Amino acid sequence: MNKELYRKAVEMTNMSYAPFSKFRVGAALLAKDGRVFTGCNVENSSFGGTICAERTAFVKAVSEGVKEFDRIAIASSGGEAWPCGICRQFMREFCDDDFVIITGNDEDSLRTYTMKEILPEGFKL
Ligand code: THU
Repeated sequence: MNKELYRKAVEMTNMSYAPFSKFRVGAALLAKDGRVFTGCNVENSSFGGTICAERTAFVKAVSEGVKEFDRIAIASSGGEAWPCGICRQFMREFCDDDFVIITGNDEDSLRTYTMKEILPEGFKL
C-alpha cells in the first residue's frame, strides 16, 4: 500500500512546476475513505507564492469536502523529501498524531514516520 502510494507521488513529480528551483516534488495523499489526492509543487515568480506538493494535495482534498486522512507519500527529483515546516503545520490541522508520512529514495527503501514524530507538541486551536 505504501509502495503504491509512493509510486503515485513519483508520477506526480512530472507535473511539478518548478522553473526556479528545478526541484520537482510530488505527493499522494490517502484519505480515510480510500480516495487518493495527488499534488505537486507549483512555484511562482513571486517566490513566496510557491505552494508545496503536500499542500497542493491537501487543498485539493479539502476543497472536495474530504478532511480525514490516513497517510501521505512524498517523492522528489532529489530522492527523499521531507515536508517543510509550513506543510507540517498544514497537515497538523487535519491529521492526528498517528497520521503516516512516507518518503524514500526509491520504492524499496521507504521510510515512514508519524505526525507526532515530525511535529511533536504541534499547535492546533
Ligand atoms: N517543496 C515541496 O513541494 N515540498 C516540501 O516539503 C519541501 C519543498 C518545494 C517548494 C519549492 O518549489 C521547492 O520544493 C524548493 O523548495
